[in-house]
Amino acid sequence: MPEAASSNGDDAPKLPPAKPAGAFEGETMTRRAVFSIGGQALGGAGIGIVGLSALGFAAGTPLFEQADEIWTAVGPPGKFAVDTYRSTVITLTHGVGEAGKTTAYVRMGSPDLEETQAFIAVSTRCAHLGCPVRFVEAANNFICPCHGGVYGFRGEVIGGPPVRPLDRFQTRVRDGQVEVGPRYSVTGDFDPVRYRDPGEFTGGIWNVLFPPRPSTPPAP
Ligand code: FES
Repeated sequence: MPEAASSNGDDAPKLPPAKPAGAFEGETMTRRAVFSIGGQALGGAGIGIVGLSALGFAAGTPLFEQADEIWTAVGPPGKFAVDTYRSTVITLTHGVGEAGKTTAYVRMGSPDLEETQAFIAVSTRCAHLGCPVRFVEAANNFICPCHGGVYGFRGEVIGGPPVRPLDRFQTRVRDGQVEVGPRYSVTGDFDPVRYRDPGEFTGGIWNVLFPPRPSTPPAP
């Protein structure tokens, strides 16, 4: 009488261990594991390098430290008129040569425009993406060559993509010279605010949504 088959399956033929999808004949799992671990190690090293660099940069940047005020003498008051600008070169940062300088357009303040400042200094940095704008005397406008931004005589936006008027610099008169100092931004109504980067709106709720960097000097 034939013996009954074992109920626990001990006598069933043993199958070779299943190979993962994509395995080819002769491939050993040791080799695959080496590649897998090696890839993960390289990825981890890459993340570490980028992360440590970012941390080092953040730790080394004086986020809350305000730079010393720099004032540049640009000439005697009689050099400037009320109805046009004079191009002047001012220093923004000491110790970096030409890279620390920029151009500012300076004129006298105009009572007709309800300006109370004796002198107005307008930045040439476009409020869209920062290209240098140029004052075109024939049109009494500032023109940006990059994307067609156009600003009126006071620096107000009259065309193109800029999001706010041109920035300004503080001015004062010392020892018979007009001096140009720290940068500030203005709202659409020319109210001064701490300066913002190009592309950032100013005025109303935008002052909250685009807060200034802590290191920027107070507005006048
Ligand atoms: S940078 Fe001036 S319009 Fe774009």
